[in-house]
Amino acid sequence: MSMELELKNVALRAGDQLKLKGQILHDADRFQIDLGCEADELALHFNPRFHDDEDGSVLVCNSKTDGCWGDEERETHNPLQRGSEVKIVVKLTGDMFEVELPDGEEVQFPNREGMDIISYVRVRGDFRLTSFKIC
Ligand code: GAL
Repeated sequence: MSMELELKNVALRAGDQLKLKGQILHDADRFQIDLGCEADELALHFNPRFHDDEDGSVLVCNSKTDGCWGDEERETHNPLQRGSEVKIVVKLTGDMFEVELPDGEEVQFPNREGMDIISYVRVRGDFRLTSFKIC
């Protein structure tokens, strides 16, 4: 069953990190980690997919402004495996978001709108979250 964690009125800034641990479901289709100021204003949508129509297993990143998606970035080398226990760290550097994945892999995504304070965080999809920390 898919999960959802939604945090509002938080305040994450450059230098802060989100650390998540959990298990990607065995039959996972997708999950996502969203950072922004509300559901329609996302600076980072980090979206691993395991059955994408175009790319199969792929890491999709995007931003959302006024409810509209921006240009997608796709990384077709997806180190995330269905059924595995993983630790994912999202680092806010100010200009960028750095997503640390297993096996020393990292995905970077620019902070396109220069959102200084992240007040909204959502984690949802085919992931069993066992630990969530803001550091
Ligand atoms: C859409 C999908 C959204 C989001 C977006 C990212 O196709 O429906 O959930 O992942 O792509 O660009």
